[in-house]
Amino acid sequence: MKELIKKIKEKKELKNVNNKYIIDIVNLVLKQNRKLIKAFEEKRIRSKEYKEIIKKVREKLRLEYGMFSEDLSKREKILSCKHKNLSDELLEIHKSTKERINIYPFIYQKIFSITGKPKSILDLGCGMNPVSYPYMKIKLKYYASELNKKDCEFLEKYFKLMKIKGKAFAIDLKRPNLLKKLKSVDVCFLFKVLDTIEKKGHKLAEEIITKVKAKYIVVSFATQKLGGKPMKHAYRGWLERMLDRLGYKFKIINEKNEIFYIIKIN
Ligand SMILES: C[S@@+](CC[C@H](N)C(=O)[O-])C[C@H]1O[C@@H](n2cnc3c(N)ncnc32)[C@H](O)[C@@H]1O
Repeated sequence: MKELIKKIKEKKELKNVNNKYIIDIVNLVLKQNRKLIKAFEEKRIRSKEYKEIIKKVREKLRLEYGMFSEDLSKREKILSCKHKNLSDELLEIHKSTKERINIYPFIYQKIFSITGKPKSILDLGCGMNPVSYPYMKIKLKYYASELNKKDCEFLEKYFKLMKIKGKAFAIDLKRPNLLKKLKSVDVCFLFKVLDTIEKKGHKLAEEIITKVKAKYIVVSFATQKLGGKPMKHAYRGWLERMLDRLGYKFKIINEKNEIFYIIKIN
């Protein structure tokens, strides 16, 4: 396994991904094809099958892991420059936050008009979103979590520089039991994250939503396809049916690129 991981991490943009996470993906890929298991067990590193394992694992990692290491030097540079508009510059380098740049000036006010002004926020699979803190225009404690430690270290540096009461820590959302150990917060963000981590069904989404300790959970989804065309179904019927079944009330904010479900947890 060690050798396989080393090979997978030869790609620059994947070199910071946790080994534990890679092992999970390798196992997932192997489970799908007996031929691949055989090539792996027999260590046939030059075989077509072995190369296929590497290719498939890399594909999955690229799809799920948003904060590529290519951004690393850029984001460090921006942070060290300490420009006045450094937060906006950082928001520009991550795809999800870049797409949100036009709505940041008002989206939190809309959300907080439903949840009330939170004293604490937990941002799961946060990407670069914690850097939008100045747009919240209130003081609060910010708990940010990403998959990878390196990303968390960067966010901690940002919090320190901006004198924000924040903490960043690594959590793999595919292990939702870990969420039970976290402190309870006023509002939890799950921005554009459920579509990323779920490929089949919505069991994981339900586990996360029911295990997070928060008064409100704000779940968002992209409403544009990769090419920029609007999606046919912006509303997520599966989520609405799940929330009805769980007895959680929700409100919707529908913006041009993104739909937000503001869920009240009983
Ligand atoms: C589409 S981005 C959204 C980022 C951010 N929430 C936002 O909307 O600005 C998805 C994020 O989920 C993170 N992610 C992917 N798989 C994850 C996992 N298993 N556990 C935690 N985070 C994960 C990625 O690193 C990436 O930052």
